Amino acid sequence: MGRVPADRIRLEVVVGSVRAVRFGPVVADWFVRRARQDTRFEISVLDLADADLPADHTDSPQAQRFRARVDAADAFVFVTPEYNHGYPAALKNAVDTAKEEWRGKPVGFVSYGGLSGGLRATEQLRQVVAEVHMVSVRQTVSFHQARKRFDAAGETDDGAAIDSHGRLLDQLSWWADAVRGAHATRPYPG
Ligand SMILES: Cc1cc2nc3c(=O)[nH]c(=O)nc-3n(C[C@H](O)[C@H](O)[C@H](O)COP(=O)(O)O)c2cc1C
Repeated sequence: MGRVPADRIRLEVVVGSVRAVRFGPVVADWFVRRARQDTRFEISVLDLADADLPADHTDSPQAQRFRARVDAADAFVFVTPEYNHGYPAALKNAVDTAKEEWRGKPVGFVSYGGLSGGLRATEQLRQVVAEVHMVSVRQTVSFHQARKRFDAAGETDDGAAIDSHGRLLDQLSWWADAVRGAHATRPYPG
């Protein structure tokens, strides 16, 4: 992620879909393009399709690199599709690959899918991230029938999503500032 000014929030955007024919990068790229206009954040993208995390939790160099990225971040956005009323196995494997590195950090969700807009995936993820001591922000960005919401350039005119994008960043920023201050004064009581 490199050096960033101390007052900027290091936001890691985790791309949760790893399918060969996935739509996820269109959604993630849109989110990241807009978010990079917000100078409160220093943004990097952690694409699980490239992370090569072992499903058997072997302590591999890839897993160590992943944990280091998680450790260096102040806040997260998980970009998740919905598969059979749940979230992708790759995303669960990623959460399970780190532990203390997640603790006391905020996360927001950008979801997409068919009719549900990925909202069931998001609500399930809230339960999971609570177990690794993260706080999930209320606002979600959600795309119903996602492939119809984006044009060939990867842009969307979905007003609700655009509005939620800004609110999600505001809420992440608030929590990230709060917990960075707390982390600086005393260790998180995990
Ligand atoms: C195995 C599978 C199960 C799916 N189940 C759901 C579902 O339960 N609800 C929903 O709204 N969409 C569902 N979809 C639609 C996906 O959310 C949609 O195709 C999305 O683009 C998948 O993300 P991806 O292309 O980045 O992998 C499913 C798609 C797949 C491949």
